[in-house]
Amino acid sequence: MLRTHTCGELRLTHVGTTATLAGWVQRVRDKGSIVWIDLRDRYGITQVILEEGKSDAALLMQARTLGREFVLQVGGTVTERLSRNDKLATGDVEIRATHMRVLNTSKTPPFTIEDDTDGGDDLRMKYRYLDLRRAPVRESLLLRHRMAQQTRAYLDGQRFVEVETPVLIKSTPEGARDFVVPSRIHHGEFYALPQSPQTFKQLLMVSGFDRYYQIVKCFRDEDLRADRQPEFTQIDCEMAFIEQEDILLTFEGLIRHLFKTVKGIDLPAVPRMQYAEAMKNYGSDKPDTRFEMKFVELTDLAKGKGFPVFDQSELIVGICAHGAAEYTRRQLDELTDFVKRPQIGARGLVYVQYKSDGTFKSSVDKFFPADELQKWANTMKAQPGDLMLVLSGERDKTRKALGELRLTLGTRLGLRDKNTFSVLWVLDFPLLEWHEETHRYHAMHHPFTSPKPEDIPLLDSQPGQVRANAYDLVINGTEVGGGSIRIHDRATQQLMFSKLGFTEEEAKRQFGFLLEAFEFGAPPHGGIAFGFDRLCALFGGSDSIRDFIAFPKNNAGRDMMIDTPSTIAAEQLVELGIAVRPQ
Ligand code: AMO
Repeated sequence: MLRTHTCGELRLTHVGTTATLAGWVQRVRDKGSIVWIDLRDRYGITQVILEEGKSDAALLMQARTLGREFVLQVGGTVTERLSRNDKLATGDVEIRATHMRVLNTSKTPPFTIEDDTDGGDDLRMKYRYLDLRRAPVRESLLLRHRMAQQTRAYLDGQRFVEVETPVLIKSTPEGARDFVVPSRIHHGEFYALPQSPQTFKQLLMVSGFDRYYQIVKCFRDEDLRADRQPEFTQIDCEMAFIEQEDILLTFEGLIRHLFKTVKGIDLPAVPRMQYAEAMKNYGSDKPDTRFEMKFVELTDLAKGKGFPVFDQSELIVGICAHGAAEYTRRQLDELTDFVKRPQIGARGLVYVQYKSDGTFKSSVDKFFPADELQKWANTMKAQPGDLMLVLSGERDKTRKALGELRLTLGTRLGLRDKNTFSVLWVLDFPLLEWHEETHRYHAMHHPFTSPKPEDIPLLDSQPGQVRANAYDLVINGTEVGGGSIRIHDRATQQLMFSKLGFTEEEAKRQFGFLLEAFEFGAPPHGGIAFGFDRLCALFGGSDSIRDFIAFPKNNAGRDMMIDTPSTIAAEQLVELGIAVRPQ
């Protein structure tokens, strides 16, 4: 070994002993007669000291030539520090160097490798291997490691079997576009990278594996966001001979185990909410339940009072922001601009300031005198000092817009603390959703999800009303996982495909293998997949999953370090049958 201890290990108990460390030079401080070196490795930082008169002169000279990020081996005596550094775990001691060996030199790094770096995003992505030397980034990946270990420990304890499924497969419809891989041997034919191992895990249930899991890469060619990467990782699970309740309890168990073992938090039983209730009260299928601020409908109270905007609206609905009555004109304008942004799409915002002296000041004073506004306040349980914000329009759109406004207000009012965790099951999602662009119904989760038996008669008459045996796990307003009880008989699966607009021929071509498997004794089964990167980001208190992926893609889907996507040689294209050989 090139070292006797790590850079995070030495304490006062080591004083008087000798130690050899190896690591990277974080910084050299030359104060004339004394030179200090901060030596860093994965485990921490240890200070090395060389002093004129006390240290070997040649060694001191060598220390003065060291640059940032040189790789160094240093040996010496552990001594107590004169001025201790309580920010460092090793801050009580230092090493008086008696020998030193440069294991490798380094160019000056393009950004400072310290907790607070001067490097911009692109630069840090280009030199990701250097960024990974920084403690906060390293900590995020170590957190991910612990999460993965604890996931395996829990699932193994529950008799789940880890099985690897293939990466070169055929398209699985999870709603995003596939990444495809051309076949060299079969020109004109393509593999697809899995959007998830959905069909394989179901086949493993047909095979009798009973309980499957895999921490697995999935690939989706979709627009990127802070919580989306083109390749991401799922904790993918499936169980046979179960009902929805079994899944909810088993995976609530996983989440509670992770909170307990990784964060030391005892999570209470996870509350449940119907999809319809989530939409009605929060305008979202993934409500952030760290704070209340539920929707209050005012349609009956406020419609037909002569305010044209309200009178033409299907729904009038508001939220009450406690203690925000004194928002300035500018703040209110900001909120109005926020809801009018094209992504939100509201036409305007009605506000009512319920002043602490009991009077009202609103943007609709002309139409609603104080006694009317008092009725709103009563319905919304507003108190003097509160701000009521009201949107109106078409039902679903208005709810969605108010949901966004609720979130932004929650942030502004400091109600979304990253160290508070509110976990929630959202149940009974609709089976189908209407897509305007394609003018047909799509599976809201995926086509293998079973409808609630009592809703099957509605499939023909009101397909949009059919509920699915589908559930999502939501933490702090992020969809962390989703799954369903599956269809396990050919006839129902075929019916489902036909409702989704597949011809019998198409269904057979794409999913013949699954339909056929269902004829060989498929057990009742269901499962769930968690977005592992998202779970890690939440545990780490970050909005961005990138920090928890060792080598992520940037917002444009590029890997800046290896510089991809990239072109390939013309010869390779010919070989793959994608281009013809130039004459
Ligand atoms: P679903 O499509 O809901 O379900 O995906 C499961 C979870 O994966 C995470 N996720 C993502 N994370 C990062 N980047 C992405 N691009 C991305 N897309 C999804 C989310 C999501 O909740 N096969 C089904 C599961 C099942 O039915 O068992 C599936 O993949 O956190």
